[in-house]
Amino acid sequence: KYIEAVAGASSEAALEEVRLAALGKKGEISALMATLGKMDPEARKAAGAAMNLLRDEIDAALRARKAALSDAALDARLRAEWLDVTLPARPRPRGTIHPVSQVMEELTAIFADMGFSVAEGPQVESDWYNFDALNIPPEHPARQEHDTFFMHRDPNDPRPPHVLRTHTSPVQIRAVVDQGVPLRVIAPGRVYRMDMDQTHTPMFHQVEGIAIDRDISMANLKWTLEEFCRAFFEVDKVELRFRASHFPFTEPSAEVDIRYSNVGGQLRIGEGDKWMEILGSGMMHPKVLAAAGVDPNEWQGFAFGVGIDRIAMLKYGIPDLRAFFESDLRWLRHYGFSA
Ligand code: PHE
Repeated sequence: KYIEAVAGASSEAALEEVRLAALGKKGEISALMATLGKMDPEARKAAGAAMNLLRDEIDAALRARKAALSDAALDARLRAEWLDVTLPARPRPRGTIHPVSQVMEELTAIFADMGFSVAEGPQVESDWYNFDALNIPPEHPARQEHDTFFMHRDPNDPRPPHVLRTHTSPVQIRAVVDQGVPLRVIAPGRVYRMDMDQTHTPMFHQVEGIAIDRDISMANLKWTLEEFCRAFFEVDKVELRFRASHFPFTEPSAEVDIRYSNVGGQLRIGEGDKWMEILGSGMMHPKVLAAAGVDPNEWQGFAFGVGIDRIAMLKYGIPDLRAFFESDLRWLRHYGFSA
């Protein structure tokens, strides 16, 4: 009867119940054994031997069943936890690096090689840094031309008015005030103007660059920009066209175009009959140096502001600026870079 119960026990707990019922202190076999004392010696000898045999049989069955159960438990666990490490991993969606981020990395590396470090300024800028310090006084027409976003402000607010910076040029002032001269820095970042068409978005990117020392000239500016363009566009030859221009914060001033060709959407730099304006530049105006606390009789500097989105479009053949900021996943997958 117990041998059958042992075979039928399907868990270690059930098996333990059988053991207690048979061989436990109050178990049936133990009770039988207790009757041996009242038997006469002959009968005791025979019954004792039979009982020992029975007890040993049950005990052996219990042990065997216990071992079988724990083997089965281990098997089940191994089956449940089986992991096929040779299967290919499930594909996971991966983001891409936005062309603007990619280009910022590239140009930062190129200017770093030429000894420029990176400076930063706030995107919400006081109108003193954005305009006045750059020789754009309150009534100057350039203030209107910049299509500025003004920060809403209570008329009784004692703080100076703030704007979304319309260019990276205010970082010229901040960098000089913070770091002094001589100085070579670039300042890449976001800028804002109320403007929207195929080549304009209300937010776009510029990189400002300045170099200030005791005898800096337009020749240094020209060399720096040409070297930068050769490295950035990865061509041996670039052609830049310096057009005389006007900015309140530079004198003389030049806008710079780069020669390129467009054959069936394939853009090539340094050849062809097309020109794209990519930057404004010039020699820092003495008033700007003075506003930043530097003596313009002792120091000169050149300055430039490059449209980052523009040069990204040119280098990577991206036709529409607006698509840069629409976060269309298909666009990002197509024009983005892998990490
Ligand atoms: N800040 C000018 C712009 O946004 C560009 C510029 C920078 C021009 C530095 C001259 C010197 O249009």
